[in-house]
Amino acid sequence: MQCSWKAVILLALASIAIQYTAIRTLTSKPFQLCPLPSPQNCGLGGQETEPPFERGAAGGGSCDDYPYFTINATRKTHILVLATTRSGSSFVGQLLNQHQDVFYLFEPLYHVQTTLIPRLSHSRNAADRRVMLGASRDLLRSLYGCDLYFLESYIKPTPTNHTTDKLFRRGASRALCQQPVCDAFGPADMNVEEGDCVKKCASLNMTLATEACREKRHMAIKIVRVPEIGDLRALVEDPRLNIKVIQLVRDPRGILSSRIETFRDTYRLWRIWRATGRRPYNLDLSQLTVVCEDFLSSVSTGLNHPYWLKGKYMLVRYEDLARNPLLKTKEIYDYLGLPMDKNVEDWIHANTRGSNEPSAKHKFGTVRDSAANAESWRLKLSYDMVEYTQTVCQKVLHQLGYKAVKSVEELKNMSLSLVQDKTFVPFL
Ligand SMILES: *[C@@H]1O[C@H](CO)[C@@H](O)[C@H](O)[C@H]1NC(C)=O
Ligand SMILES: *[C@@H]1O[C@H](CO)[C@@H](O)[C@H](O)[C@H]1NC(C)=O
Ligand SMILES: *[C@@H]1O[C@H](CO)[C@@H](O)[C@H](O)[C@H]1NC(C)=O
Ligand SMILES: *[C@@H]1O[C@H](CO)[C@@H](O)[C@H](O)[C@H]1NC(C)=O
Repeated sequence: MQCSWKAVILLALASIAIQYTAIRTLTSKPFQLCPLPSPQNCGLGGQETEPPFERGAAGGGSCDDYPYFTINATRKTHILVLATTRSGSSFVGQLLNQHQDVFYLFEPLYHVQTTLIPRLSHSRNAADRRVMLGASRDLLRSLYGCDLYFLESYIKPTPTNHTTDKLFRRGASRALCQQPVCDAFGPADMNVEEGDCVKKCASLNMTLATEACREKRHMAIKIVRVPEIGDLRALVEDPRLNIKVIQLVRDPRGILSSRIETFRDTYRLWRIWRATGRRPYNLDLSQLTVVCEDFLSSVSTGLNHPYWLKGKYMLVRYEDLARNPLLKTKEIYDYLGLPMDKNVEDWIHANTRGSNEPSAKHKFGTVRDSAANAESWRLKLSYDMVEYTQTVCQKVLHQLGYKAVKSVEELKNMSLSLVQDKTFVPFL
């Protein structure tokens, strides 16, 4: 077999980096791999009646994490929202966050990235990417087991006495803004504003957060820093977990437009293009091409229905959700095998009334970006930019059922939909 020496060196470098990081940052107990990953041994067959929250009497510490993957004998569902920035993932996150049985975390991988790759926020370097992925999988696995202390290794400054006020977007997690984790708000306070949570709640006590996590029947994590679903295969196949992936996609033209509005510094040259009608020579086109390449390969993997994703994969187009939030959300919950509760329904009613009022409070706010605005990019991007995007992203647009436009008139005529009717059924 032929093996490229470059790949070998790259792999070696990556593994050194991972080990180094692990040694350097993980002062607490290292992640323990259950040595017997079979349903009989780990009690994950679903029939076991192990009491909840009791550490198993497993000798030598093996398998002692497993009770946290179940709650009073019901298997927890570990929901993973796989998305990219500005694809409507905050919105989808809220649809899960609002459910009373779900413990939700908003992009914990932020901390992994800022610790491991502080130089570049969006490194395209293959070795960096590998380091990120290895660490990310370990972190996700621990978090699904409600081991929130594991996250502390990546938080800067390092939390003392298991408390921190630096958890990224803590306010986006309802359970972290309520009793018993935060005394400022009662468990019945449904709509704690993210800013209020940060202002009024004391430092986050990770021990309490861990307990809150264990008490919820299910867990959902949203991530935007894993480019390809194939990178998560080891996690999806982990027999201790009960992963359900929701892959969220959005029209790349909409993503581009939204990023230009949101990340004003990073996308400055794109704004110059839009304003002057001329493409700056030093424009970083990879800011667009990477989105489409990653989508294309990730979505292709998912839609090819590899056996390891069976029962664990659903593709959701943000535009479908925006157009028909209640119906689509119901479909998502059906796929997850969970009943949708009234909180979720109420939240949808309150946030998708097509209200266009600018709610500039949160940069990443969900309201502003909800239903009415899913296609607003058509009025914001210039035709040049749209045309360029259509060229670069042709394949993925086609694959996902987004129509290309051939004229400015077509682009700006909002009574023409650019979203083809296309059904993506969950892979069951
Ligand atoms: C499991 O816990 C839920 C709520 O946490 C409760 O409604 C249910 O009755 C419990 N089931 C058993 C078998 O104890
Ligand atoms: C951590 O807890 C110890 C013992 O309760 C206390 O002495 C110490 O001051 C605490 N450290 C901080 C930074 O709060
Ligand atoms: C965090 O909560 C735990 C559990 O209630 C408590 O024992 C611990 O003292 C708290 N830590 C701090 C620093 O308040
Ligand atoms: C917009 O598209 C609709 C549907 O094709 C068409 O009837 C209408 O004339 C178009 N409007 C303009 C201003 O081109």
